[in-house]
Amino acid sequence: MDDCNPLQLFHEWLITARDHPHVPECNAMRLTTISNDLEISNRVVLLKEYDWKGLTFFTNFNSNKALDLICNPNCSLEFNWPNISRRIIVKGLASQTESDISDNYFFRRPRESQLGALASNQSAIISSRKCLLDNLNKVTQMNANKEIKRPSHWGGITIRPKEFIFITSLKSKIQKSEIYKVDPNNVWSKIDEWCYT
Ligand SMILES: Cc1cc2nc3c(=O)[nH]c(=O)nc-3n(C[C@H](O)[C@H](O)[C@H](O)COP(=O)(O)O)c2cc1C
Repeated sequence: MDDCNPLQLFHEWLITARDHPHVPECNAMRLTTISNDLEISNRVVLLKEYDWKGLTFFTNFNSNKALDLICNPNCSLEFNWPNISRRIIVKGLASQTESDISDNYFFRRPRESQLGALASNQSAIISSRKCLLDNLNKVTQMNANKEIKRPSHWGGITIRPKEFIFITSLKSKIQKSEIYKVDPNNVWSKIDEWCYT
């Protein structure tokens, strides 16, 4: 095994967080994007799949985050698990996930979530709750007894990592960061840094 393998460490930290009784939603990650007019935004999304191709979440491609990522694929993800004194920051480049992976994931979702994806235009302001529910009812009726196909405006976004930072808060306000960066030949290197917080 490669000594400098951030994905292996990422996997180990995620499992530790998942198995810890005081880490709720270990796969919740804060996604930061930059818009066309250079405004920075962040929001929580859920990590659903990961491998060397990247870290994948699923979303509406018309949402603000997806539009930001089309203009500027550079983004960061942050997992914050204060109850185990750990954080992970991943910086990388976003692209749409292959359609068969999005199809598979959509197919496994509960029917209500599939209908929700058909009915909603995420991030768009809707005039009233009634409007939203009317639309959901309409879509539900139109698809009664039918298998629901993934709409083209919904699917995965995969962040191909360029950098992983594994941060541990130690005693006396000292923080250790293990920083992994990949070079253009796809070779990872690692440095450790300590600082006061
Ligand atoms: C715990 C949690 C998990 C979420 N997971 C997702 C997700 O996986 N995909 C998604 O599109 N939105 C998810 N959301 C909603 C987003 O945080 C956000 O409100 C929404 O996607 C619109 O963001 P945007 O307007 O910046 O695109 C989640 C919200 C919470 C609180």
